[in-house]
Amino acid sequence: MENVNGTSHILDELNTQDLLHGNVQILHHFMSSLKSQALRCACGLGIPAALHRLGGSATLAGLLDETGLHPSKLPYLRRLMRALTVSGIFATAKHKQQSPAATEGNSSDSETVYTLTPASRLLVGDGPSSTMSALLNPRPETGFAMFFKLEEWFRDDGGAGTLFKMAHGVTSPWDLAKVDADYNRGLNKACVADTSFVMDIILRGRGGDVFRGLTSLVDVGGGYGSAAVAIARAFPDVKCTVMDLQQVISEAPDDGVVQFVAGDMFEFVPPAQATFFKNVLDCWNHEDCVKILQQCKKAIPTRDAGGKVIIINVVVGHGPDNIAVKETQVFYDMYMMSISGIEREEHEWRKIFLEAGFSDYRITPILGYQSIIEVFP
Ligand SMILES: C[S@@+](CC[C@H](N)C(=O)[O-])C[C@H]1O[C@@H](n2cnc3c(N)ncnc32)[C@H](O)[C@@H]1O
Repeated sequence: MENVNGTSHILDELNTQDLLHGNVQILHHFMSSLKSQALRCACGLGIPAALHRLGGSATLAGLLDETGLHPSKLPYLRRLMRALTVSGIFATAKHKQQSPAATEGNSSDSETVYTLTPASRLLVGDGPSSTMSALLNPRPETGFAMFFKLEEWFRDDGGAGTLFKMAHGVTSPWDLAKVDADYNRGLNKACVADTSFVMDIILRGRGGDVFRGLTSLVDVGGGYGSAAVAIARAFPDVKCTVMDLQQVISEAPDDGVVQFVAGDMFEFVPPAQATFFKNVLDCWNHEDCVKILQQCKKAIPTRDAGGKVIIINVVVGHGPDNIAVKETQVFYDMYMMSISGIEREEHEWRKIFLEAGFSDYRITPILGYQSIIEVFP
């Protein structure tokens, strides 16, 4: 007999185990939206920083006190911390002291000690390690909220433009940054936070080898220049230049370590032995990437003379073989869909390189979900 949805025959095809597994999988996906809200909330309340100030671990009462929350919120704080502990953002240490209730198997919240994990350590403070500040945008309406319109966007015939345009009235973040000074500053600062973190990882490991022996480099779409400054400091023989749009360059802090040039990479890329792109080419479609790389080809010498393009971006399918990396790559790609950007698989990158006139490339997947790609003329 069919139920009101007419689905009984579908359910009959599945055994109980499959039904329950499917049910939890759907709920798990649906509830995942709350994962990011819980994370945003914990950061907004300053929980990672509070734990850090308290020496890396604290009881709920200690956390409540340190974050200045009202005592009535204690039971809710426990639930927030439990959710974020199950999902790996925080951890619990052994109870300091086992109360009789705890030994009987009942929870004893006042005794549970919450600790930072490698993930939540990245959320402490505003320093270079707070890479996630890029994603924990203080203005949600300019970030993930636009995805509530994703279905509407799919149903549109193309006339509405990008999802970003549907939400903000302009096609891309750079268009919004031109007219909204606050957004411009927020965007550039988020890029600095992420870039400081990523460059630190690159330069402390073998990733730094890609800059060895270079005499000059242009960081194209280099924002406030934090990547170029890091490279120039690590390799003083490399003359570094940052190129970006006028609205970015005019605000970039210039301490004389690198040279800043305002311009449009579709029209011109300043000459150098290498051009560098960090999180730039994934913002553009295939044809635009070919145009940008054709400008680079004009700007650099031959391979024999050390000419190359260095790209930091996702290569979907490369990197550690775990679900967190795989999902981050493909959901990052969905995020980039909102501005007509794309996270590419290797064959998609290869097609761009060959069309732009390059002959060879090398992918070094040493940045977690991202890779370093060297492209040779
Ligand atoms: C996602 S941000 C990456 C910034 C920086 N590379 C980083 O990773 O921190 C992309 C950058 O490309 C710049 N950009 C956008 N269109 C550009 C253009 N036509 N010419 C030069 N830069 C451009 C933006 O202003 C922005 O700084």
